[in-house]
Amino acid sequence: MLELYLDTDDIEQVKRFTRCLPIKGVTTNPSILAKSAQGLTHTLSQLNTLIGAEARFHVQVVSQTVDEMVNEARQLAALPYDIVVKIPATEIGLAAIKQLKAEKIRILATAIYSVQQGFLAALCGADYLAPYVNRIEAMGSDGVKVVADIQHLLTQYQLSSKLLPASFKNTQQVLEVLKLGVGAITLPVDVTAQLFLHPAVQPAVNQFSQDWHSVFGDKLSFES
Ligand code: E4P
Repeated sequence: MLELYLDTDDIEQVKRFTRCLPIKGVTTNPSILAKSAQGLTHTLSQLNTLIGAEARFHVQVVSQTVDEMVNEARQLAALPYDIVVKIPATEIGLAAIKQLKAEKIRILATAIYSVQQGFLAALCGADYLAPYVNRIEAMGSDGVKVVADIQHLLTQYQLSSKLLPASFKNTQQVLEVLKLGVGAITLPVDVTAQLFLHPAVQPAVNQFSQDWHSVFGDKLSFES
């Protein structure tokens, strides 16, 4: 089963999409949290109430050194929620990931722009890998191919990391990544909303309604 996340800390938007989609949880990053300025404590508490006890949260460390990242990750993992700690897949980040996996703390390796980076994070035991599809494409490379190549290496080397592609600007990128069979994905709210859109849908629904009312008036289906 695909794990579907929203890449936002916007409570109203999470409420909106939790009503109509099987949302597993939320991914955040320091930029998202800084933009809303709500703070992690408030955000997690609100989102957990909203999504429910099964909600999973991917939360990124802001520390810059291995020791500080490890300490921050331990604190995040100790919070009373289902937390996966996000750590950038840099040289320093991978050192932290190695240590944290020895403590069985769940990790998402983030800021993945290359196949090599994703593969090394998987070798270090990261539970999730987040390649940045749109950011890679904005730099002139093929973001979907990066995801596909990481997936190929995971299979080839029997590594258990789950791909959780992130950074999307349009629904086609989302579709191409889903066709690969990734285990998880995180979507920005604007792209999530676009997934429902097709110019033919509302006219079709309106026509059904018009046809019905022209014959049965205000009766409901079971009343006819
Ligand atoms: C997720 O791990 C990333 O923080 C995020 O999806 C990046 O998305 P952006 O490229 O839209 O900022």
